[in-house]
Amino acid sequence: MEIIHKKKREIELPLEIVVENFLDLDHVNFVHKKCYSYCNILRRSKNIMLLDVGVKPLTPFPYTVHYTMFHEFISPNKIVHFSKQNGKKKYVKSIVEFNEERGKTSIIHTHKIDIPFYLIPLKHVIIKLVDRWSNILWKEDSEIMKDRKKVVSKGFLDGPHCGKWLLINGKPKWIFNKIK
Ligand SMILES: [Fe+2]
Repeated sequence: MEIIHKKKREIELPLEIVVENFLDLDHVNFVHKKCYSYCNILRRSKNIMLLDVGVKPLTPFPYTVHYTMFHEFISPNKIVHFSKQNGKKKYVKSIVEFNEERGKTSIIHTHKIDIPFYLIPLKHVIIKLVDRWSNILWKEDSEIMKDRKKVVSKGFLDGPHCGKWLLINGKPKWIFNKIK
C-alpha cells in the first residue's frame, strides 16, 4: 500500500537560493545531524546525484535506516528522488516542486512510501513520524537558507564550488572562499 505525505511551505527568499540549498547536499552531514547519521555523495554529475544516506526516523533515538538514493534536478524548478532501503524491493519516492512569487518561494514536498500490509494499521503513525522528521529538517534548512541569502547579497557566489562547511564551536557554518 502506498501512503503519501504532502506538505507546502513558504519562505521569503528567491527560488535560486532555495533550489541551491536543496542541491547542495554537502551540508547534510553538518546541518542535519539530528535527522541523518550520514550522507555520502557517491557520484555527482550536472543534474544527478547518487547517495548513501542513513536516516534517523525516530530522532533523537539513534536507530538508523540505510538508503541508497537517486537524486535528480529537473530544471528549472523540480527535484525528484528515489530511495531504496538495503535489501528491500520498493522505493520511497519524493518530489519537490518550487515556485516563486514576489520574492517568496513556495515548496511542495511529497513523499510516497510503500508499506507492507502488516503496517497498514500504523499508517497514520508513519505519516506523523515523516511529518515530524521533515519539520526538523525544514527548521534547520530555513536558517541556513537565510544565511546563504545574506552572503550572496554581499557579493559572494553561492554553491558548493565557492566554500565549504565547517563546524565552528560545534555549530555548522558555511564559510565562503575569499573574494579575489
Ligand atoms: Fe538541508
